[in-house]
Amino acid sequence: MRFDLVTLFPAIFDGYLTQSLLEKAIKKGLVEIHRHDMRDWAADTPHRKVDDRPFGGGPGMLLQVDVTVPCVEDVERMAQTPSRKILLTPQGKRFDQPMAEDLAISDRVMLLCGRYEGFDQRVIDILEPEEVSIGDFVLNGGEVAAMTIIDGVVRLLPGVLGDEQSNWDDSFSRGNRLLEFPQYTRPREFRGHGVPEVLLSGNHEAIATWRSEQSLEKTERRRADLLDRPQ
Ligand code: ADE
Repeated sequence: MRFDLVTLFPAIFDGYLTQSLLEKAIKKGLVEIHRHDMRDWAADTPHRKVDDRPFGGGPGMLLQVDVTVPCVEDVERMAQTPSRKILLTPQGKRFDQPMAEDLAISDRVMLLCGRYEGFDQRVIDILEPEEVSIGDFVLNGGEVAAMTIIDGVVRLLPGVLGDEQSNWDDSFSRGNRLLEFPQYTRPREFRGHGVPEVLLSGNHEAIATWRSEQSLEKTERRRADLLDRPQ
């Protein structure tokens, strides 16, 4: 799977792409991540300007259509496979596990990271990207949101996690829309806190029953809204 990141701050991704799971997935050739600095598409002026003030007034600066659209079109042409284009914005559709699962079966995804007050509306009208938000809060830009999406998607790609069952069992995944049951490891006792007896019983059926009861009870208590959603 290929990701193209369009951003004004490609270096923000340095640490993330060179650590742990992502680094391994890249080395194994399971995912390719290409970063593109939007400023490379700016007019050839000393400041390589990419933003300007909104017509009609108002605070902040907008990313310009005449920089963003040619940039995205050129990036699109950098590979044969057509890309799903996602523009990160707090106004977008909320990112969730079904969306991550849907993206994980795409061959190529382009993530457009906004900064400042966002993009000129014509960027959206012309490119018709999917607008996606990672939650009801405002970040300084789309980069952290893009990392969130990559993180959620890459772990679903076959061969990335050691244990393929685990992403199927995770909360919110297609196999399980409930919150996770509590888990314990050694020591058996710590500061007077023990481990539920059933987990030490060796009775697999009883353990499975206890775990699903715990999941259901926790979901009812914390996130009853999940129980109303279609499976
Ligand atoms: N850019 C700024 N805030 C954002 C959010 N909540 N989700 C996605 N992109 C953003």
